[in-house]
Amino acid sequence: MIHFTCCNQEYAGDLMELIRLFDSRLDSDLALDVSYSRSPGAFCVTVRSDKFENFAKSFVYPIKADGDLLRKREEKRFLKMAIYNSLSFLTGIRLPYGCLTGIRPTKLYAEISAAPDIYGKSARRVFVEDYDVSERKVELIERIVDVQKPLRNKSEADMDVFVFIPFCPTRCAYCSFVSLPLDKQKKLVDPYVECLSRELKQINDLISSKGINVRAVYIGGGTPTSIGVQNLDKILSHCPTAPEFTVEAGRPDTIDRDMIEMLLSHDVNRISVNPQTFNDATLELIGRKHRARDIYNAFALVKGKMTVNMDLIAMLPGEAFEDFKRSVDIACALAPENITVHTLYMKKGSRLKNEGFEGAGFELASKMVDYAYDKLSAAGYRPYYMYRQKYTSGNLENVGYSLPGNECLYNIDIMEEDTSIIAGGANAISKKWEADKNLITRCANYKEPLEYIKNIDLMLSRQSEFWK
Ligand SMILES: C[S@@+](CC[C@H](N)C(=O)[O-])C[C@H]1O[C@@H](n2cnc3c(N)ncnc32)[C@H](O)[C@@H]1O
Ligand code: SF4
Repeated sequence: MIHFTCCNQEYAGDLMELIRLFDSRLDSDLALDVSYSRSPGAFCVTVRSDKFENFAKSFVYPIKADGDLLRKREEKRFLKMAIYNSLSFLTGIRLPYGCLTGIRPTKLYAEISAAPDIYGKSARRVFVEDYDVSERKVELIERIVDVQKPLRNKSEADMDVFVFIPFCPTRCAYCSFVSLPLDKQKKLVDPYVECLSRELKQINDLISSKGINVRAVYIGGGTPTSIGVQNLDKILSHCPTAPEFTVEAGRPDTIDRDMIEMLLSHDVNRISVNPQTFNDATLELIGRKHRARDIYNAFALVKGKMTVNMDLIAMLPGEAFEDFKRSVDIACALAPENITVHTLYMKKGSRLKNEGFEGAGFELASKMVDYAYDKLSAAGYRPYYMYRQKYTSGNLENVGYSLPGNECLYNIDIMEEDTSIIAGGANAISKKWEADKNLITRCANYKEPLEYIKNIDLMLSRQSEFWK
């Protein structure tokens, strides 16, 4: 365990995240003390430890950032570089993403590429030399940035719409999202649909009064299709449309012929049918009530009618490398247009976390994720968006793969944060992107569906004020 102290608590949360990554791979005790100071033009960090006869090392970084916000970002980065450098020397551990702890490495890579004068070298060199990101991960990031280039939003007037539906047939063991299991919370569906319909009417008025061009609509969850054909039909009839129109669906046991016909009647053109794994024993263990054969049936219903995504998760409880490999191989043979490979993360609120489940180590996670990358790349899929979550097995990532030309714009927009998103429903966060200020402002609805329902008038007036 690392006993970490710092002269100032200003950046404590971010630094602890990096410390935790080393901690999860360390089985001995280590004291680490960090202090820092600012002088004109320079940021100085000193790291001390009780190891190696009182290790002490000082780092001096030239300050380049202008403005308070950018300065803080830069200082945090310097601190992480100094801590990472010291810890990897003291422990012999190197992390796949080096000192990077953020959710969006591709966004950072693109930002550095666009500002070579500030960094004084290419983004690749910054990632490899300064951040110690592994060659394999740099290759992944570079491929994603390349695929995204022609797909990134280029107009501030083009926006996305996100609608959240917080219901699911049952709650999966690893899930920490806002999602109410229908067996216990069915009574909330009708009032929720009523409130959401009101909010969607307001969103439609906003779009027409401001002449907004909707680039993509994404109905996410939860499991949007779990509320049944009639309820979802009502929501979709109030929804704006767009050339890209996604319903996340997900659970194959919520997809049947009537559902698909209804979705097609609203011009929905993308859907998720999520196996997570094709192993029935694992599906039972994680509390998904469907079986592998339900995935084949649901996929047969949608194939050729819409662009299909399949989510898989590496490192599910009880799964060995061969189980995950088999799932990747089957998904690949089915050949949906998109396959998204997640690595298990365990956050507060999930049953696995509450039960104290400890996943297997970094090597296995890495082997699984590398296999998926190699197999899907060989089959013609290209990685096109990625994000990292806290508490992920092996400190790895989630990657969306697509057959060329089938990338989901909404997924790119949300990760690269260069598009305004008008969001509706519980847990929804509207984001306003102002390119000239390089600024995102947010307006969040209440997270819990019951609170959202009870306070719908407040939600509507807050969102209306936000978009004025
Ligand atoms: C918000 S969920 C919605 C999808 C849909 N409800 C379903 O489960 O099929 C999106 C995806 O996140 C992934 N996911 C959720 N919790 C996860 C966790 N703890 N670790 C890794 N991936 C996770 C799953 O692959 C899931 O399909
Ligand atoms: S993983 Fe999907 S289906 Fe499972 S509880 Fe979470 S949102 Fe619902």
